[in-house]
Amino acid sequence: MTHDDNLGFETRAIHTGYDAQENEGALTPPIHMTSTFAFETAEAGAEMFAGERAGHFYTRISNPTLDLLERRLASLENAEAGLSTASGMGAITATLWTFIAPGDEIIVDKTLYGCTFAFMRHGLTKFGIKITHVDMSDPANLSAAMSDDTKIVYFETPANPNMRLVDIEEISKIAHTKGARVVVDNTYATPYLTRPIDLGADLVVHSATKYLGGHGDLVAGAVVGSADDIMQVRLVGLKDMTGAVLSPMNAMLIMRGLKTLHIRMDRHCETADMVARALDAHPMVGNVYFPGLESFAQHELAKKQMSQFGGMIAFELKGDLEDGIKMMNALNLIKRAVSLGDAETLIQHPASMTHSTYEPEERLEHGITDGLIRLSVGLEKPDDIINDLVQALDKLSPGQAKAA
Ligand SMILES: Cc1ncc(COP(=O)(O)O)c(C=O)c1O
Repeated sequence: MTHDDNLGFETRAIHTGYDAQENEGALTPPIHMTSTFAFETAEAGAEMFAGERAGHFYTRISNPTLDLLERRLASLENAEAGLSTASGMGAITATLWTFIAPGDEIIVDKTLYGCTFAFMRHGLTKFGIKITHVDMSDPANLSAAMSDDTKIVYFETPANPNMRLVDIEEISKIAHTKGARVVVDNTYATPYLTRPIDLGADLVVHSATKYLGGHGDLVAGAVVGSADDIMQVRLVGLKDMTGAVLSPMNAMLIMRGLKTLHIRMDRHCETADMVARALDAHPMVGNVYFPGLESFAQHELAKKQMSQFGGMIAFELKGDLEDGIKMMNALNLIKRAVSLGDAETLIQHPASMTHSTYEPEERLEHGITDGLIRLSVGLEKPDDIINDLVQALDKLSPGQAKAA
């Protein structure tokens, strides 16, 4: 929108906001490892605190290295402004605390990442916030649920862990009829595949721990949106309510990751497509949830709002939970680990790991079956990933296979 409009996504991921000549010619931006900033005069300090003079004065509020990352993320998401945080949960909590008060309602989609679910269900409800879960895969359900108290409509697309999609454009239109803010968790898709602001969303949150960082070596988060909204999140949600500020060192690592986001995402998407088809063809595999498969229930919506189909896959075996454990333990290359978006292919069991924050009956109600397995397809040679999965699946006895 406002950033280097004539430059492509890839170019902005590398260059936006930085001029080497202003930094002694350093090609790579310096890391401003400082907690505080010296004021030229006492009056200048007072003016900064009063918001009458621009400049950095304390890193919990702003810092030049964080500022550069925030400009880049805003540019990639086509948003006016951005804010970095110490984790994805830091971004989500700082954003929601900023815009809600007791008596308000947040309408959320059925499926959410386990800790986001726990924050809403067990955290916010303690403070008089009403959380209403709605199956947003049918936008009519949101129309029916909206009330004058609804201040925020929140969802992930694709959702962690079961890959359900939400139509950002349709949901945003409905939410705006009542003046609610639409907050989208774009961690799975990244701005390379989907840009929710362009489709009508107000705020986009990220776990930058995942694809944005891309190397499994940091925990971080971000939120982007209008300049006014982001200033409020900075001064209320981040500065006063969570203090979840990112380290400048980690900001630098995320900027390094962003330089290759487009190349990594192209490869994640291409390999995930091959892996999804190989899983789909295996006799021991039941349902495969990957937006790129023609059989995926929301394949048309995926084509509408994703430029490619991402690197995440969920699937169910034709066996039981024991078979899932056996299969995961038989893997040689693929790592049994939570998190996602790394160079390494990672596999995990949501019901006992990332989504164990749900009660068993809540999981079923929210579409997370006990047999569901989540795979984050990495950057290894595709054949090596597929061969590892197939050899592990082949160890399960076809005699045990039940109907999917
Ligand atoms: C979709 C999604 N949103 C948010 C988060 C939370 O991010 P973080 O772990 O960086 O706090 C995660 C973490 O797995 C996630 O998968």
